[in-house]
Amino acid sequence: MSNYYDPDEAKRLEKEALNYSRLAVEADKKNLKPLAINYYSRAIDALSRLIEREESQSLKQFYMKKIREYRYRLTYLRGEVVGKAGDGSIASFTASDTGGSVRDVEAPDSLHWLKPFKSSITWDDIVGLDDIKKVIVRSIAYPIRRPDLFPLGWPRAILLFGPPGCGKTSIAAAISNEIEAEFYPIDASMILSKWLGESEKRVAELFNFLRSKAMRGTPVILYIDEVDALIGARREEVGGEARTRSQFLKEMDGLNNKDNYKIPLFVIASTNVPWQIPEAFVRRFNKRIYVPPPDYESRVKLFRFYLSKVRYDEGIDFDTLAERTEGYSASDIRDVVQTAYLEVISEFFESGKVHEEGAVPRPLTMDDLLEALKRVQPSISMQSIVSFQNWNAKYGSG
Ligand SMILES: Nc1ncnc2c1ncn2[C@@H]1O[C@H](COP(=O)(O)OP(=O)(O)OP(=O)(O)O)[C@@H](O)[C@H]1O
Ligand SMILES: [Mg+2]
Repeated sequence: MSNYYDPDEAKRLEKEALNYSRLAVEADKKNLKPLAINYYSRAIDALSRLIEREESQSLKQFYMKKIREYRYRLTYLRGEVVGKAGDGSIASFTASDTGGSVRDVEAPDSLHWLKPFKSSITWDDIVGLDDIKKVIVRSIAYPIRRPDLFPLGWPRAILLFGPPGCGKTSIAAAISNEIEAEFYPIDASMILSKWLGESEKRVAELFNFLRSKAMRGTPVILYIDEVDALIGARREEVGGEARTRSQFLKEMDGLNNKDNYKIPLFVIASTNVPWQIPEAFVRRFNKRIYVPPPDYESRVKLFRFYLSKVRYDEGIDFDTLAERTEGYSASDIRDVVQTAYLEVISEFFESGKVHEEGAVPRPLTMDDLLEALKRVQPSISMQSIVSFQNWNAKYGSG
C-alpha cells in the first residue's frame, strides 16, 4: 500500500492510537501489567502507521516522542528494567496535544537553578571530528532508539578531553538535539560554590532528579564542564570536597548498576586537564574520547565553513590558511574569520556607504584574513598536544 495522505485513514489511525494509549495508561495505573503491555504495543503500532501517513513534521515528531515513551514503559513492564514500576507511569495524550503531555517531574527547591538548556547546534555545525561523532552516535543515539537491542546495556558515562575550543561542548549539545534529550550543562566550580557545605547532598539530589526524569522516557544528558575542578586532586580540600567526590563516585557507579542501566540518563564530562583526574575516577567513564585540535584538512574545512556565512573574494587560498594555523583551535579559526569580517564591516560603516541604498560591504579578501591572523594567536601549544596524546595512548578509548 502506498503512503499517500488519506485524511480519513489518518483520522482513523489517530483515533486508534489515542484510544490504545488511553487504555494503556489506565491499565498501567491500575498495575494491570499484561493488559498495559498489550495496549502500549497496540498504541505504538498505530502511531507507527500514523507517522507514515502524517504530513505535518511537528505532529510526526510528537508521535515519535510518544512511541519512544511507550517503548521505554514497555521495557519496564516486561521486567527488563528493574525499578519501581510506579515511578515511571506516563500520561496518555489527547487529541488537542501537540507535544509534551508527559507529566513532568518537579525539581526540588534546592535545584531551582537547574534548567535544561536549549541549543540549536546540530552535527552539521561541527566541522571534522567524524570518528568522534560516530562513536557518540553509536554509544548514545542507537540505544535510545532501540533499547530492546541492547540487552547488555550501554555506556552511560563519557569523558571528552582535549584542548579548549575544539568542540567538546558542541558535541554534547549536538547529540542532545539529535536524540531530543533534555540537556543540562553544569560546571564544576559552579556546583562547588553554590553548594558549599552541602554539595554532597546536592549531588545526590541532582542525580535523583535527573534519574526520575529519565525514567519517564525523556532522555537526559548531564554535561559536566571542567569536571577536573570537581574531582581533580589539585584543589585545596575544604572539608566537604572529599565527601562530594565520593558521592559523585557513588552516583557514577549507580549509572551502570543493574537497576539503572536501561534508564536513558547519560553523563558527559569534559576536561582540558585529564591528568588531574584521579585514576579511580577516570575508570568510571566507560568511554574516554580525545577531541583533538583540527588537523590540516579540518582547518581547510573550518575556514570554508565559517567563510560560507559571509561574502568573500575568489582569491582566498585555503591551503595557505591551513598551513599558517597549526595550533589554532576550531574556535580560534572562527575568531580569525570573525575578526577579518568585522574589519570589513567597520570599514563599510565608516565609509558612510552604509546609508546608500542597495550598498553592501565589500567581499572579504585573503589579505583581510592574513591581517587577522596576526591578531589572533593560536591557543594550543605543541607541548599540550603531546600531553594529550600521551594521556590518550594510556587511557583513551573510542
Ligand atoms: N569542530 C568544530 N567545528 C566548528 N566550530 C567549532 C568546532 N569546535 C569548536 N567550534 C567553535 O568554537 C566554539 C567553542 O567550542 P566548544 O565550546 O565546543 O569547545 P570546547 O572543546 O567545549 O572548549 P572548552 O574546553 O573551552 O570548553 C563553538 O561554539 C564553535 O563556534
Ligand atoms: Mg566547553
